[in-house]
Amino acid sequence: MEWTKEMRYRRLEDVSKDMLEAIKSNVNSCQWRQSYHIQPPTGLLNDPNGFSYFNGEYHLFYQWFPLGPVHGLKYWYHTKSKDLVHWENVGVAIKPDHDYDSHGAYSGSAIVHQDQLYLMYTGNTRNEQWERHSYQVIAKMNKHGEIIKPNDPVIADIPNGYTDHFRDPKLWKSGDVFYAVIGAQRENKTGCAVLYKSLNLIDWTFLGEMKTDLPQFGYMWECPDYFELNGHGVFVFSPQGLEPEGDHYQNIYQSGYLIGQKLDLKTLSFTHGRFNELDRGFDFYAPQTTLAKDGRRLLVGWMGLPELEYPTDQHDWAHCLTLPRELKIENGKLIQQPVQELTKLRKNKSIWKGTISNDTLHLFNGVSYELICEFTENDSDEIGIEFRAKGDEKTIVKYDKRQQKVVLDRSMSGQPVGEIYGSKRQCSVKDGNIKFHLFVDTSSVEIFINDGEEVFTSRIFPKQASDEIRFFANGGSVSLMAEKWEI
Ligand code: FRU
Repeated sequence: MEWTKEMRYRRLEDVSKDMLEAIKSNVNSCQWRQSYHIQPPTGLLNDPNGFSYFNGEYHLFYQWFPLGPVHGLKYWYHTKSKDLVHWENVGVAIKPDHDYDSHGAYSGSAIVHQDQLYLMYTGNTRNEQWERHSYQVIAKMNKHGEIIKPNDPVIADIPNGYTDHFRDPKLWKSGDVFYAVIGAQRENKTGCAVLYKSLNLIDWTFLGEMKTDLPQFGYMWECPDYFELNGHGVFVFSPQGLEPEGDHYQNIYQSGYLIGQKLDLKTLSFTHGRFNELDRGFDFYAPQTTLAKDGRRLLVGWMGLPELEYPTDQHDWAHCLTLPRELKIENGKLIQQPVQELTKLRKNKSIWKGTISNDTLHLFNGVSYELICEFTENDSDEIGIEFRAKGDEKTIVKYDKRQQKVVLDRSMSGQPVGEIYGSKRQCSVKDGNIKFHLFVDTSSVEIFINDGEEVFTSRIFPKQASDEIRFFANGGSVSLMAEKWEI
């Protein structure tokens, strides 16, 4: 179907009940609806927004185009949870219904202030010539979940030197001062982030550009996020326009982080180490973090990427969010672990312990499960798992000892996605004991390697019947301890 501009900018409120019902029933007949991930009721989900803990609950909003699997007029959709595991769909939170957000309530973040949740987001607008202008807006949500939008944006102008690619404010507080970091593009078409400060979240002062060692690193930085962890400053962002480099930057766009000293809020300098990708899989972008009620730093990402077609498109929906991950810093790297609360989902445990020698063993079955595998005493060339498998259909994650790499192969996973960007992803992991921790859902997998040293997040679109879980060792033997829980 050809999505014209009129169709992309059609308002949810202007669509007949019958049309919405037809979309819903097409969505509900899709074999790839997830069982425990946040997914849109209809239409397209992209970035997580406004991730926060407020009034005894976690709030997680996302970018939403309700009417189909394309990037059109964006709303904020609201979900909430008491435990980071079971999420309730609340409904539309922010409608793009003002002049300052006429072409989309774009991404942003949330912070609690004076008993209200302040939601700062980018109002995207287009004029008759289809030129973009963006505004930064503060909406407020009270304890009853009522959201009030303001008459005017809080930041109406783009500072000199930057284009209208200026969006995605992320808020934090240091002492009594609120800060916002905003993703931007310089007039010379390079990406960067700029900083603002405020004492009341309403009156904002432009501070200037965040000074990093990456003056030429892609053409736009989307979804910036700054936080402090274990005495370090951490800057997460999604740069667009990086060229592939070895195993790096294989997806259309990247998300990664810099770890450094705490951002100097006077000079705006950020002294940091190298850029690391957050995720090594096929489908991960635009993550956002928040603080848990107990002080853990949590991250959720969009399990998808812009500008790609997905097999669910024909069912009028696309994408989901990742599971929440806890972040830690170890040896200068971010370590990501699924939040501990997810163990609540575990049902019906199976265990297998033994040795595999030059063989493939079909040990378990499942389409929605958690699996922890510890491989020890490995003298094989390759060890790994084939999952969502039947016959030749399978998704493979393996450790290649000769190359010292973990490889995720989705070339035989079922319906293809984004094949022009390749169907294997890999990264170096030191030899030794290898642990794979998988969360498999109807159409996705998140694989935590060695307790979160690396993560591979991907959508997969196998047949429902492909439920075998097989373990293999080629060119030698390996000891395996595998535990699986249904979800
Ligand atoms: C990232 C992004 C953001 C923007 C939003 C629009 O995926 O392009 O920069 O605010 O999506 O939906």
